[in-house]
Amino acid sequence: MAQTTVQEIHPDLYLLRVADTRTAYFEALWEIPEGITYNAYLLKTPEGAVLFDGWKGTFQEEFLAALASVTPLEDIRHIVIHHMEPDHSGSLPALLEKLPPDVTLWGHPFTKKLLDALYGLGDVNFQAVKSGHSLTFGGHTLTFYHAPWLHWPETMVTHLAEGNILLTGDIFGGYGIPEGIFDDEVDTDAYLTAARKYTITVIGFYRDKIGKNLSTLQNKYNLQPAMILPAHGLLWRQAPERIVQAYLDWGAGKPKPGKVTVVYSSMYRYVEKAVGVAMDALQQAGYTPVVHRMVDDERAALADMLNDIADSQAVILGTETYESDVFPLTAFLLSEVIKKANFPKPLLVVGIFGWAAAAGRQLSTLLEKSAFEPVNILELKGLLTPEGEAKIRAAVQDMLQHMR
Ligand SMILES: Cc1cc2nc3c(=O)[nH]c(=O)nc-3n(C[C@H](O)[C@H](O)[C@H](O)COP(=O)(O)O)c2cc1C
Ligand SMILES: [Fe+2]
Ligand SMILES: [Fe+2]
Repeated sequence: MAQTTVQEIHPDLYLLRVADTRTAYFEALWEIPEGITYNAYLLKTPEGAVLFDGWKGTFQEEFLAALASVTPLEDIRHIVIHHMEPDHSGSLPALLEKLPPDVTLWGHPFTKKLLDALYGLGDVNFQAVKSGHSLTFGGHTLTFYHAPWLHWPETMVTHLAEGNILLTGDIFGGYGIPEGIFDDEVDTDAYLTAARKYTITVIGFYRDKIGKNLSTLQNKYNLQPAMILPAHGLLWRQAPERIVQAYLDWGAGKPKPGKVTVVYSSMYRYVEKAVGVAMDALQQAGYTPVVHRMVDDERAALADMLNDIADSQAVILGTETYESDVFPLTAFLLSEVIKKANFPKPLLVVGIFGWAAAAGRQLSTLLEKSAFEPVNILELKGLLTPEGEAKIRAAVQDMLQHMR
């Protein structure tokens, strides 16, 4: 049985949260040993209830039971859809079957198209909203704002006038199953690492939209919410500005001073020996790198490598030549870095080959599309020599000098 939480978080406003420990790879791609939550919200009023979002379809039975524990289902008059990705909308078809047909669904105009495309729900009672459009219902005023491409075209947020509360869908969400529900109940530093990983992996491709959308909400619409309620992870009431600033920093690729990440693949530990020299040089210079290994008894998670590369000041990449190319996992990692975390920083490549070096050349081509500044692309043959070691040490010094 999944762990569910139903809790009144503000007068008449309920959190409905489920802890998903079954999903090993979010979106079938990102490793999440920390798990994830889906947070829906329900506002009860004398005229009926308003539901905001839902849970992944895997949890639809639990979702219906959680809802029924706070309201008779037929009292739900409105459903606000912030985002149509099935981790939130998957439980919607089962819910609609239990509701009167005149229940109104509210969303971005594009949401209607996705209701049809994903669920064949083309003829529901749908109300498309413009940005700034309000709904007054049961003594409450709800105002909807579009926040497109965070990370789908139809994403929007809702402001509740009473309590100055902002419900934000995926925006300001994070991986992880926090032990408490609010920011004042947990160690936010640990949570923010998981939230950064979520932001880079899920929203990273659209990172430029983060600053743009947040500036519209703050400057054009003057929103300074007292409470931020995302559809994943922690809820923010003590310091909502903290998650806002964190998102802005992550979207802009702000590096953490002194952070250096080392990522390498090594089949028979030749690359590992060479990278070991680079790490020794780093340590002698006073740096403790974050290290991710892709070897025969360990494989770093792609999501963690992306997360650490994103906010590093510099990166060291170790790869062997493999079938006249870069090691396959490294090529995939780099393609994702370029898509989701393409921030400028010095890069040192330590390449090892057996008979004809190719990894460095192939990497140079790959890196043309990247914001990396490749300060040195070394290609060394197999067994490390004293000359090779000296080249690696010099290249590390070079890289450190290029660090901003
Ligand atoms: C499957 C495989 C493919 C390889 N392809 C190449 C290649 O195309 N060109 C080359 O120079 N060396 C190639 N090598 C040799 C490796 O680059 C060399 O052995 C290197 O030292 C391996 O480092 P590692 O043990 O740290 O992975 C290949 C090795 C393996 C096992
Ligand atoms: Fe999403
Ligand atoms: Fe989501």
